[in-house]
Amino acid sequence: MGKKIKIGGLISGTGTNMDAIIKACDEGKINGEVIFVGSDNSDAKGLKKAEKKRIPTFVVNYAEIMKNFKHAPEDHFFPDDFDFEDIKIKQSLLNKETDILKVSTFIETRAIAEAALIEQMKAYPFDLLVLAGFMRNLTPYFIDRVNTTPGKPRIMNIHPALLPSFPGVDGYGDTFRYGCKVGGCTVHFIDYGEDSGPIIGQRTFPISDKDTIDTIKQKGLALEYQLFPECIQLYAQDRLACVKMTYTNDTGDISQRTVVKISQE
Ligand code: GAR
Repeated sequence: MGKKIKIGGLISGTGTNMDAIIKACDEGKINGEVIFVGSDNSDAKGLKKAEKKRIPTFVVNYAEIMKNFKHAPEDHFFPDDFDFEDIKIKQSLLNKETDILKVSTFIETRAIAEAALIEQMKAYPFDLLVLAGFMRNLTPYFIDRVNTTPGKPRIMNIHPALLPSFPGVDGYGDTFRYGCKVGGCTVHFIDYGEDSGPIIGQRTFPISDKDTIDTIKQKGLALEYQLFPECIQLYAQDRLACVKMTYTNDTGDISQRTVVKISQE
């Protein structure tokens, strides 16, 4: 067995996925160890759970940063390496039609928060960063500072729907309201878009007339706790490769997509 990978985690809430990952590391199902758990929210229950296991934690209070910025934008200093134009070009989270003030405020407040995250994470060099119920979109500012080797992304997210259906904040709710007959969860590397990065793994469950949002969530979470550790273990085994694929359709249109290839053990 190779060297254990060092895993950092970001959470916003209950942190049950983070817990499942920590447990999988303890049980040897992931050849790795969780070296920190950070959050944008000081009330995140998952922080206490990590602390109980003596895992270092930190908080970058996004809500406070955004509130302070709104009241006194002139008091804020941007990180030295902040390049607004570069981020604006790469930023695909926001509709380009959205008004420029909104885009600027989003990019600027996030850069301040993300610089603080990066500062906190410096103390814990990691191989892989997992977003385990982290409910903030990360901008190219942050992503570029973590993904420093081209073609080797190292931020993994779990999403409560079968992407590319139902990106956003309420995957299980959206699945239920649409009347889907199957639901699922997806683990993917993140890119500059919203829940649009290369897919590593997916699991599905059936939905019947008897299901409610709550039962759908329960079924989905049970699968998340299996899928996320499995995908992290594939990363630990160095079995994931991101490959740029080119497709030509019947009318000759060419499209490109980065796809994750999983090699045999
Ligand atoms: C999970 O269902 C996860 O898939 C979802 O939040 C929940 C977190 O639960 N993530 C997202 O919606 C990300 N957009 P947890 O804090 O108990 O792991």
